[in-house]
Amino acid sequence: MRGIKILGTGVYTPETKVTNDDLSQFMDTNNEWIESRTGIRSRNYSASVPNHEMAAMAAKAAAEDAGVAPEELDLIIASTCSPEFFYPCMSGLVQNIIGAVNAAVMDINTACTGFISAVDIASRYLEDGDYKKILVVASERLSPHVDFEDRSASILFGDGAAAAVIEKSHKPMYSYLSAKGDPFEALYCYVNKEHNCPYTKENEALNAIMDTEAKKNYLQMDGKGVYKFAVDAMATAVTKTLAKAGLTTDDIDLVIPHQANIRIIQSATKALGINPEKVYVNIYEHANTSSACIPTCLDDLKKEGRLKEGMKICLVGFGAGLTSGAIVFEQ
Ligand code: ACO
Repeated sequence: MRGIKILGTGVYTPETKVTNDDLSQFMDTNNEWIESRTGIRSRNYSASVPNHEMAAMAAKAAAEDAGVAPEELDLIIASTCSPEFFYPCMSGLVQNIIGAVNAAVMDINTACTGFISAVDIASRYLEDGDYKKILVVASERLSPHVDFEDRSASILFGDGAAAAVIEKSHKPMYSYLSAKGDPFEALYCYVNKEHNCPYTKENEALNAIMDTEAKKNYLQMDGKGVYKFAVDAMATAVTKTLAKAGLTTDDIDLVIPHQANIRIIQSATKALGINPEKVYVNIYEHANTSSACIPTCLDDLKKEGRLKEGMKICLVGFGAGLTSGAIVFEQ
């Protein structure tokens, strides 16, 4: 039977805080519109720290919080949809920076569902018994991928990194992962690359989709389409995972959703009939940091002393892919 225990958490929040008013200095927007439509008041951008260094700082903090030396880590799983390198993988770069010399590494990319996917994978390795201590780190530097001429998407995102060190627990955990590949165009970011191989050229079908400079270079989002998907995906993932666990929403002490938009969280919470007081939200100051959202929430809660032994916790994510998933576990 699978089970996880969170030994420690850590975050790295980039230095540059940007409020809605700051954005309105160069974009046709205002604080009232952004806050009322999304809940977001500010976000942080990493002016110059690359994504893998952000990840390493969060990872180091998590290992320290767990009281685990980097050499004791058996595996690092990194989640990112905004890597600076195609290769090596971000987890390998983190391994080197923090000195986790005995850790194997792997990266995953299921966008905003990334932390859920990574913990799901980790739980299976822990159950297998080969690996005892696993670091899961989610880090996103989304600001370079966002089109600041697209006022409906750009206001939503921030940069951030967060990590957790986990080990096996005898208390059961349950998970559910899902994907809906069509339409991928609801949310995507193309990797624009010049070809200089004399035998290859750009693909015509892709060219037909990426027909503007913005589509070639920046994140593209169908806001309303993603919104509808996200409310349904959050409710479905929680329902399916609770059914596997033989639990109801009343049994859950804490729900930690992906922080995409306060209205998505509120609509899904209502549809599920969950007491909103059990649902943790920190989107106000962080915005959407994709896969880093959920572990950032975990870190907030741990630092506030609100992650208590015996609590039943539900993590739920949804994002580009379109992916979604949830995990229910007892801390
Ligand atoms: N400031 C001021 N006005 C704006 C802004 C802005 N930043 N952005 C859009 N508007 C305007 C539009 O131009 C439009 O004006 P019009 O009526 O004159 O044409 C009006 O506001 C309404 O625009 P809508 O797109 O209908 O606004 P909506 O209420 O749908 O909100 C939003 C847009 C916030 C993007 C919403 O659709 C949303 O949150 N969708 C979910 C997207 C999401 O969460 N993505 C995160 C990534 S995916 C993930 O993490 C799962």
